[in-house]
Amino acid sequence: MSEHVEMTRRDAVCELLLNRPDKRNALTLAMYGALAQALAHAERDPSVRVVLLSGAGACFTAGNDLKDFLAGPSFDDPQHPTVRFVHALPLFSKPLVCAVHGPTVGIGVTMLLHCDLVLAAERSTRLILPFVQLGLVPEAASSLLLPRLVGPQRAAELLLLGEPLDARTAHAYGLVNRVVDDESLMEEARAVAGALAERPPEALRRTKRLLRLNAAGEIRERMNAEVAEFTACLAGEEFASAARAFFEKRR
Ligand code: COA
Repeated sequence: MSEHVEMTRRDAVCELLLNRPDKRNALTLAMYGALAQALAHAERDPSVRVVLLSGAGACFTAGNDLKDFLAGPSFDDPQHPTVRFVHALPLFSKPLVCAVHGPTVGIGVTMLLHCDLVLAAERSTRLILPFVQLGLVPEAASSLLLPRLVGPQRAAELLLLGEPLDARTAHAYGLVNRVVDDESLMEEARAVAGALAERPPEALRRTKRLLRLNAAGEIRERMNAEVAEFTACLAGEEFASAARAFFEKRR
């Protein structure tokens, strides 16, 4: 487990908290590894019925740690922690609930497409997909799942322009199930997760499989295609100059 991913049990709910608030919960390789491992544990442990994801501090997550993009291993490797986590998401058979608040960037948004119930804090939530601005392409099968969910025109706007989406608009687009007060986000998310945990687990798993896992092959293929494009982009000048600009602004 990474020190930046906290795992807690509340009855049958396994809570995973992204806990690197000073870096806006930007996901490091160690955090992806910890998340993949936590999902594998939750899958195997029959006493876990639901997983709840959330973030500590000012936001859910600022997306992938840009320093790891600059210096990390190649995405070609199937054992790459990011690739492992992203592939584990659509295969996870128990309900995944996610509570988002504040700026929620990149993988923070694309992982929502694999969650079963998403709650968003009304005031602070801003969903941002800045892949193109960063000289990158979308991941986590979002190039397939986002247009299916919100329609091709909206998906194009979100992915090509990369402008922030507030909680109400995300709800209208179907990306978010419930919009709640910032102050009661965790309380509401725990109530939803707790309610799911009380449902018969076998029927939940079978229903989730019917809803989602029939697309598993297609999703895997798209993820592989995205990884190939992403790897090429990471080696390019557009990404290098966008990443430099981000860190220079902060000096
Ligand atoms: N990777 C690495 N470090 C990051 C990061 C990221 N994705 N996002 C934020 N950080 C770091 C900053 O470098 C800064 O570190 P420092 O205090 O050592 O300078 C710290 O987190 C706080 O970030 P800051 O930008 O000052 O916070 P903010 O509240 O003003 O803004 C965001 C929050 C999320 C809007 C902004 O940090 C941001 O746009 N981050 C980049 C998002 C991104 O491009 N992600 C990649 C998606 S593929």
